[in-house]
Amino acid sequence: MSRFYLTTPIYYVNAQPHLGHAYTTIVGDALARWHRLLGEEVHFLTGTDEHGLKIQQAADAAGIPPQQFADNIAPLFVKAWERLDITNTDFIRTTEQRHRIGVQKLLQACFDAGDIELDVYRGMYCVACEAYYTADDLDGDNCPIHKRPVEHVEEENYFFRLSRFGDRLLDWYANHPDAIVPEHRLNEVTSFIKQGLHDFSVSRKTLTWGIPLPFDESHVAYVWFDALANYITAIGYGANDTTFNKWWPVNRHLIGKDIIRFHCIYWPAMLMSAGIEPPSGYAVGGWLLVGGEKMSKTSGNVVNPLDLIDEIGLDGFRYYVLADTAYGNDGDFTYEGLIARYNSDLANNLGNLAARVATVVGKKCDGRGTAPSPSSALAPISSQTVADAVEQWQRVQPSRALEATWQLIRATNAHLEQHEPWKAEPGAGVDAVMGDALEALRIITILVYPAMPDTAREIWSRIGMTGDIADVRVPDALQWGGYTAGATVTKGDPLFPRRTV
Ligand code: MSP
Repeated sequence: MSRFYLTTPIYYVNAQPHLGHAYTTIVGDALARWHRLLGEEVHFLTGTDEHGLKIQQAADAAGIPPQQFADNIAPLFVKAWERLDITNTDFIRTTEQRHRIGVQKLLQACFDAGDIELDVYRGMYCVACEAYYTADDLDGDNCPIHKRPVEHVEEENYFFRLSRFGDRLLDWYANHPDAIVPEHRLNEVTSFIKQGLHDFSVSRKTLTWGIPLPFDESHVAYVWFDALANYITAIGYGANDTTFNKWWPVNRHLIGKDIIRFHCIYWPAMLMSAGIEPPSGYAVGGWLLVGGEKMSKTSGNVVNPLDLIDEIGLDGFRYYVLADTAYGNDGDFTYEGLIARYNSDLANNLGNLAARVATVVGKKCDGRGTAPSPSSALAPISSQTVADAVEQWQRVQPSRALEATWQLIRATNAHLEQHEPWKAEPGAGVDAVMGDALEALRIITILVYPAMPDTAREIWSRIGMTGDIADVRVPDALQWGGYTAGATVTKGDPLFPRRTV
């Protein structure tokens, strides 16, 4: 059985789960579900990033020890993902023992390879980014991202000799041109490498909230070195070679565009140093902005995803997040946009199709599903939709995969409008039209499953399909003609009642 290992970034515990975190995690979940439909064994990892100065300072401000602070927040992520029906197969916290063991092993491996050395660091540090900056990077005296003053630091640090890895990284990307999607992000990475890479500090002496270096316990590991390692410590690096070798190298790291350098430059170099293969793939997402801005406590524009679920339902929210923004681009969340998309795509299109099919089959076919025709006009549209959707999921483009799916939904609604089976007398003509509509709806249901699992399960059972939809296997199940005639079709309540703003 082929395998698929997929990760989200691990989220800092200084903030509660918000729409931006939910966005990346829902994309991950939809992708994980799609790969399970493909018949692959999927390992889907998410978790929390709990060390470093940022968390230490947040804990200080709250007046509690950092471990307790992290213990309070991490479960909020676990619960939020449960509520969003995220099917992660593991959740790692960087304060766990399994992580500490693996981070120390990785540090030791890079140290033994001669790529970690003691030096003196003089320069600027932004706590919000947990990143060092050179004078050229700054916006006046401020961090270019957070627009807040950076701290001047001068201390003895261990450095990772990133400057030695430029050519090896360029070679690796030249040999793996598909490693980063969308493709323009690969160019961003390679041109950054070509400008020349600087060594980076991997330890802090003034901080205690972190993992001690195994070769010098007076330092703790730099939070990004610590955090990146989660992708291997969670699968047993340093403790269980069998599980590690089973899952590594990762198939896709899903990341936001703000953390691309850490993931696509630092991380593969760290792995190369330790003699481990770099990640096979990355999918780089944009930001989901609110009112054109990145969410932050200071802007007061933080949106809690759980409030939106209460408002629009879980699947309405998941669909909006996946369909509204092309992965890779920035999206802009608005409440009006959420309602508009819900009404047009879900209430008027998918919901309407499911209701019409069940109503007509109930009234004109005795509630029994009829057989699709191999020569249906919908068959070629369906196969085009399937081909597009398969390709777009492969490219980590959920919005395009769903757009392809909606082509078939619209075509099926149009097919019904053209034939008006609700006006016709029961008989062969109605049976043929409804058999085709049921078959299209069966295929549509499979294609919407990764985005809207509850809705898909519901439609699956209403059209009389047996078994769990999660157990179907694509692409075979997407062949035209799989609907079983004679199945009991039931109507049920409207799936997506229309909403007003
Ligand atoms: N802890 C680091 C990641 C370490 S991974 C080894 C971190 N955490 S974060 O919580 O600040 O952000 C995690 C991810 O969430 C980033 O990829 C970031 O792009 C994403 N998002 C945070 N806010 C976001 C939006 N408003 N929109 C989309 N994604 C956003 O960075």
